[in-house]
Amino acid sequence: MKMLITGGAGNVGGYVIRELSAHGMDYTILDTCEPSTLPPGIGFIKCDLMNREAALEAIKAYDVVIHLAAIPNAFNDPPEHVMAVNMVTCFNVLEAVRINGIRRIIYAGSESSTGFGIHDVVLKPLYLPIDETHPLWPHESYSFTKRYGEDMVENYARAFGIEAISLRYCGVWMPCILDELRAILEPIKRGEGVSNPWFGCYVAAQDVAQAVRLAALYDFSGTGIPFEAFFIMAETTFYDEPTLEVMKRIYGQLPELRDQDYYRANPLAPPFDIRKAQRLLGYKPRFHWCDIERWEDQG
Ligand SMILES: NC(=O)c1ccc[n+]([C@@H]2O[C@H](COP(=O)([O-])OP(=O)(O)OC[C@H]3O[C@@H](n4cnc5c(N)ncnc54)[C@H](O)[C@@H]3O)[C@@H](O)[C@H]2O)c1
Repeated sequence: MKMLITGGAGNVGGYVIRELSAHGMDYTILDTCEPSTLPPGIGFIKCDLMNREAALEAIKAYDVVIHLAAIPNAFNDPPEHVMAVNMVTCFNVLEAVRINGIRRIIYAGSESSTGFGIHDVVLKPLYLPIDETHPLWPHESYSFTKRYGEDMVENYARAFGIEAISLRYCGVWMPCILDELRAILEPIKRGEGVSNPWFGCYVAAQDVAQAVRLAALYDFSGTGIPFEAFFIMAETTFYDEPTLEVMKRIYGQLPELRDQDYYRANPLAPPFDIRKAQRLLGYKPRFHWCDIERWEDQG
């Protein structure tokens, strides 16, 4: 199976590369800039995916495209630029996949596409835990692109039979952002509580990479439209407060609780339901925020 990783020179890309290499998988990296380390024997294509012709030329003769290339947040670029880059690159990649007969695309979706979490407006979920059938209510540039990118991916699956998986991960944690994370974690470790309306979700980059590898191997045979979305997160939030208490603090009254057992079994389970990924992909998150200083040693 030949794979192409767009945005492979980026932060998540580095972990995907490591995971695929560790499993002896065959891949090439595409990006506008060369990765800081290129494993021996791995190909690199320099390409700006804003250019349709360049995308059509570069994305050929692969079985799977892992589409990571994007502006990964709304904080550093003008919103219209985030909209333009993320939507156009996604469209050009999908066109290359369709025209060049590539079997599968794995899309870097995001928990932000739900409209909960980092947004300024605090919307209340219809129910808990939030699963992949909950409506998506983004209301800022980056999250719009992640939602409408996923819509495009799903419709290419519906219209053209392209196998498509959207991995909706939440904030990806990795040692290179440790200083930023310490500022968030230290008050929690001191038991000072949390005052913001965020849900406290995170996922280790290594666990995202695991999910990407599993998505490449997922068997679609026998299903209808070959599209699936999955929430990809750690098994707990990074709060020390039970999730239902967090929800009461944010919303006053709890949203409808559709599955008591989820929180009975694991009171710190995220507000999002990761059981579909566990069941269908075999996803097993391995990394816990308490050990982040040792993640690199854990493989
Ligand atoms: N980091 C997170 O917390 C997080 C959470 C959820 C989803 N995601 C998604 O995961 C993906 C990877 O995120 P990341 O944190 O590694 O971001 P990153 O910025 O580190 O990597 C993105 C890569 O895409 C490349 N890229 C951007 N525009 C391009 C273009 N026009 N043509 C070719 N390459 C281009 C960049 O050069 C960069 O190497 C993104 O799609 C992001 O939206 C990230």
